[in-house]
Amino acid sequence: MSHRIIIKPSEHIMHTASGETILQSALREGFSLPYGCRNGSCGVCKGKILSGNVDYGHSNEETLTEVEKEAGKALFCCAVPLSDLVIECHEIGAIKDIEIKTLPSRVEKLERVAPDVMVISLKLPANQRLRFLAGQYIDILLKDGKRRSFSLANAPHDDDVLQLHARNYPGGVFAEHVFSKMKVKDILRFEGPLGSFFLRDTPEDVPIIFLASGTGFAPIKSILEDVFHQEAGKAHKQAMVLYWGVRTKADLYMVELAEQWQRQHDHFTFIPVLSDALPEDGWSGRTGFVHEAVMQDFSSLESHHVYACGSPVMVKAAYQDFTVLRQLPKDGFFSDVFTPSANSQ
Ligand code: FES
Repeated sequence: MSHRIIIKPSEHIMHTASGETILQSALREGFSLPYGCRNGSCGVCKGKILSGNVDYGHSNEETLTEVEKEAGKALFCCAVPLSDLVIECHEIGAIKDIEIKTLPSRVEKLERVAPDVMVISLKLPANQRLRFLAGQYIDILLKDGKRRSFSLANAPHDDDVLQLHARNYPGGVFAEHVFSKMKVKDILRFEGPLGSFFLRDTPEDVPIIFLASGTGFAPIKSILEDVFHQEAGKAHKQAMVLYWGVRTKADLYMVELAEQWQRQHDHFTFIPVLSDALPEDGWSGRTGFVHEAVMQDFSSLESHHVYACGSPVMVKAAYQDFTVLRQLPKDGFFSDVFTPSANSQ
């Protein structure tokens, strides 16, 4: 049964198809609600039901608590309308006009850049281009109907090939395929671009902190390369710092690139952080958890924006500690969480 949904404060109206979640209806009808994992793990899609009833669906208890439900909150990627609804959330204008496509691509290059990281370069058919915002991701469509999400690591202007950073992890069936069977010239179908992890318009005097764990570096690489490309020739350049947390030195798989950005751009600082440095690493840099390095360096984040990408544990800890202990405004924190079921990076 179809239901009508009014979105506040925009007053946009959309209609659901039977059994669809609120987010599925929005994407089908071209409304740009914020979202990340689409499986109830990240909380990015959380909004308010102002009137009407929903089936909350299956989500992680920590992502949507009972107290939040009682306060009218719901995860729009999980909630299925049971009646006409009025909902409240902030639509994102920037992705509204970008078409989500399903395209074939050919594996152009495979580079093992760290013990458990493969850089996959994908070539599109000659007559195709993928329009996307730096920081968005694509879903690789597998033969069994499953999907694996990967952030695009190249900037939109540099789109001769699409670059993905795939991490191998125990039990990851597609990850294992990438590391043991995938070959150059294999054909992969994908859907994209997806997600709302991209740089918002930020006042020039607001410094930006990027926080990456592991292959969470991928979308941040896309965003930074896009920023460096667009700001060429501009008089004012926004202060930006990247904290990249990994276990050992070998996991800093594009460290030369990040160091090169720092040499080339006075307003950009790169801080690598190792959590499990090995004696042979000879590491004299920062150590510990990556978000704690930010906590040590900033007594207040009141006038900052933070973009965090990587493991759920890191993103959650960063959000908690930055907003509670460092006064970061809640609407100044943007995140993309990699969960094994939804985002296999
Ligand atoms: S919880 Fe809904 S998009 Fe992640």
